[in-house]
Amino acid sequence: MYASLIRQERYGEPINAFRTEVVDVPPVQPGQVLIKVMAAGVNYNNVWAALGSPLDVIAARQKSGATEDFHIGGSDLSGIVWAVGEGARGVKPGDEVVALACRWDESAEDIRLGADPVTSSSLRVWGYEENYGSFAQFAVVDDYMCHPKPARLSWAAASCYMATAATAYRQLFGWHPHTVRPGDPVLIWGGAGGLGSIAIQLVRHAGGIPVAVVSSEERREFCMQLGAQGCIDRRDFDHWGRLPDTSDEQAMSAWLSGARAFGRRFWEVLGERRAPRIVLEHSGADTIPTSMYLCDNAGMVVICGGTTGYNGDIDLRFLWMRQKRLQGSHVASLREAREVTRLIDQGAIDPCLSRTFGFEEIGLAHQLLRENRHPAGNMAVLVNAEE
Ligand SMILES: NC(=O)c1ccc[n+]([C@@H]2O[C@H](COP(=O)([O-])OP(=O)(O)OC[C@H]3O[C@@H](n4cnc5c(N)ncnc54)[C@H](OP(=O)(O)O)[C@@H]3O)[C@@H](O)[C@H]2O)c1
Repeated sequence: MYASLIRQERYGEPINAFRTEVVDVPPVQPGQVLIKVMAAGVNYNNVWAALGSPLDVIAARQKSGATEDFHIGGSDLSGIVWAVGEGARGVKPGDEVVALACRWDESAEDIRLGADPVTSSSLRVWGYEENYGSFAQFAVVDDYMCHPKPARLSWAAASCYMATAATAYRQLFGWHPHTVRPGDPVLIWGGAGGLGSIAIQLVRHAGGIPVAVVSSEERREFCMQLGAQGCIDRRDFDHWGRLPDTSDEQAMSAWLSGARAFGRRFWEVLGERRAPRIVLEHSGADTIPTSMYLCDNAGMVVICGGTTGYNGDIDLRFLWMRQKRLQGSHVASLREAREVTRLIDQGAIDPCLSRTFGFEEIGLAHQLLRENRHPAGNMAVLVNAEE
């Protein structure tokens, strides 16, 4: 099959890291499904895979016994079931499906003891930590990873949403009692991004009030169309980055005046003096101090990424005195994937397909993402499909 491969010697900028090569179609093990990939979604995780950092995905897999010296990325797909392995349930050849990229070992001890499989120590993200993702003519997934493709969507639109939509859904509805309630203000970083564009719509759908952060006028307009109450342009502020040492009074006071000004802008946009009950985080080091400061008393900052860095500085006084919650969240459960897919199927949530790329443009799509020059929403790549 044709596949877009990353090799260790090409680690670096995504535009150079992906290259089309011919490799064998992977074997289908018991419980697995071979899918003819029609279209594939573009996610930030394969920017990381291309860079070989923070994880050298090929070396990490080889350490656990894999023999392949290449990585086929792609954690989202729409496609047609081509063959099923022995004992695979729930799908049959010819079914049109999408996939959630979470793979776990159903016989893992923690799962047998009742853990949510998404929290299992056996969890791996297919198409990132695991090989044979969707940037190839065929992909292999486990049977439980398949969900029915929303019939109303094109192949490209159906392939673009799952990883971001299911992740945003878990962030907003998976962490009881901090789920979005009618009237809850919610701050969404990167409102025009993959996660953000879906999050704005999900918050609105639940009756919450989404306020989005953006960095351009074009992105502001996009978020408003999706239902944002208003937007904050982060270019108007300059207190980003790591928190100063809390014993440095002058630096802390300068930082606080930046964070307070951002908070006042939040009130203006919201139209009332209330803090966000939930903050949807993924930008990481640059923004987490502000997120933790701004979040309401007894509210939650829920984070699924660290695009700008992994140092999560917080002034602990805000955490304990105001009894806030900082919650990590990673991908989604089968139920969450199914629920968000239903909302998309019903037309309640738009997958926000922004641009569809050709197969030879996989590197370009990831390069745009890396440089934050990608169009608002979620991107897709045509594999076997023509649209
Ligand atoms: N753990 C998981 O399950 C999971 C799942 C999906 C994504 N993620 C992670 O979440 C992150 C975002 O993913 P995505 O698909 O939404 O990416 P995306 O489409 O690139 O959106 C991210 C948005 O972040 C904003 N941003 C960039 N630099 C920023 C900064 N310095 N400060 C504040 N905002 C900034 C940008 O919007 P503006 O420039 O307009 O502000 C951008 O649109 C990535 O790191 C990804 O790996 C994790």
